[in-house]
Amino acid sequence: MNDVGVIILAAGVGKRMNSRLPKVLHPLVGKPLLFYPLRAARELRPKRIAVVVGRGADEVRRAFDDGSITWVLQEEQLGTGHAVRCAKESFLDFTGDLVILSGDVPLISPQSLGDLLRRHRDRKAAVTLLTASLEQPAGYGRVLRNAGGDITGVLEEQDASEPEKHIKEINAGIYAASPRFLFAALEEIGNRNEQGEYYLPDIIGVALRRGERIETVRAADAREILGVNTREELAIMEKTLQEKINRHWMAAGVTLKDPDTAYIEEGVTIGKDTVIGPNTHLLGRTTIGEGCRIDGSAYVTDARLGNDVHLRFSVVLADCQVADKAVIGPFAHLRPGTVLGRGVHIGSFVETKQAIVGEGTKANHLAYLGDVTVGRDTNIGAGTITCNYDGFRKYETKIGDRVQVGSDTTLVAPVTLGDDVYVATATTVRHDVPPGALVYNERSERVRQGWTEQFRERHKKG
Ligand code: UD1
Ligand code: CA
Repeated sequence: MNDVGVIILAAGVGKRMNSRLPKVLHPLVGKPLLFYPLRAARELRPKRIAVVVGRGADEVRRAFDDGSITWVLQEEQLGTGHAVRCAKESFLDFTGDLVILSGDVPLISPQSLGDLLRRHRDRKAAVTLLTASLEQPAGYGRVLRNAGGDITGVLEEQDASEPEKHIKEINAGIYAASPRFLFAALEEIGNRNEQGEYYLPDIIGVALRRGERIETVRAADAREILGVNTREELAIMEKTLQEKINRHWMAAGVTLKDPDTAYIEEGVTIGKDTVIGPNTHLLGRTTIGEGCRIDGSAYVTDARLGNDVHLRFSVVLADCQVADKAVIGPFAHLRPGTVLGRGVHIGSFVETKQAIVGEGTKANHLAYLGDVTVGRDTNIGAGTITCNYDGFRKYETKIGDRVQVGSDTTLVAPVTLGDDVYVATATTVRHDVPPGALVYNERSERVRQGWTEQFRERHKKG
């Protein structure tokens, strides 16, 4: 069987996005738009993938450069036909079948691409177009057919008359073509149209004139071929893709209490019987174990949660690990480098950063634990603060096993509390404390009888 080569068009200005960011870098469910057509292309196991870039070329290259892509620069965006012509040099020695994709059509499925390629090969066509019927075809190129139903061309929206705009069959902007025909045909197309651009679909006219075979294939699902040209379309697509991801996880045994507000990015994994409440974001490389409960309003990025973890209402987790049966929140913030052992409790208004916390330890109220290692079965009292920063450097705090840190404790790092230490309430600890010791600050406590009344009297007179 012939080899496959892929050309992805991604040089366009993306005018209608009204953005400084190149269109194909706009994120869709956490991944740049171009990620999706690239992923679909790779499923074809192509010999070569060329991506045509122009606007923000360096930025796009940087975002995807893994050595597997042949980058083609289209310095001036003179149209889709011109863009493909720019890739000619990359396919001079190539005799297989070419598949052309649009960088702004992300939902295209490997199945549709497979269908396209199969038809193209079976019929030995010069060019095969993927088409779809849309109830609202506005903005797309319309497919023109003769009385016999054969395709005779593609008409861009801007060039179409009112009656022609009623045509519902549209060009998906996705093609299979033989390189021999394609690059020869591109030499013949002009730019005399409303936009003054070299239109790739004009190769249909060339094929007709030359008596070459032209085929069309309908996309398996018309939603696959939707393009992103505006932020509104991006938002609609985000929703569409999100719904698809959510359906996948529900089928895999995850309960979503409110799928409309569950935002789960591509690449996240979730174990069975996990229950996810409303307004939950699971982002990046997050993995969630089985039987977890996420009550709601959780913003979780690059976190690894074990099984039976309970995230209570309103928590933020980033780049951290949480072992089985831990309970986090409500209103907790786990920052990068947090590693929590089995059954750890992190309660309300507790912030952790670079904090390694041993099994069964609890910090249930109002604490800051930064640059710290805590042993197991330790209790961190309300209002405990690790003073880890002097404005220049960060310093470490070490807390042993079974330590009782009293409320309102400040631990001035670097400092170590041995195993089984007791810290009295309202202590500032500046020096290491040996295992089994009690540490407290001397502070005299006095009571002045009747003081309040005198104080208030003084103020009344003044
Ligand atoms: C294009 C098709 C239209 C089709 C639609 C499907 C043409 C002339 N029109 O229209 O028939 O219905 O896609 O989505 O092909 N690009 C370049 N260089 C350029 C111009 C564009 O690389 O000089 C890239 C863009 O970045 C984009 C893709 O080609 O990824 C399509 O270009 P766009 O301007 O979005 O074309 P549409 O107007 O959507
Ligand atoms: Ca487009």
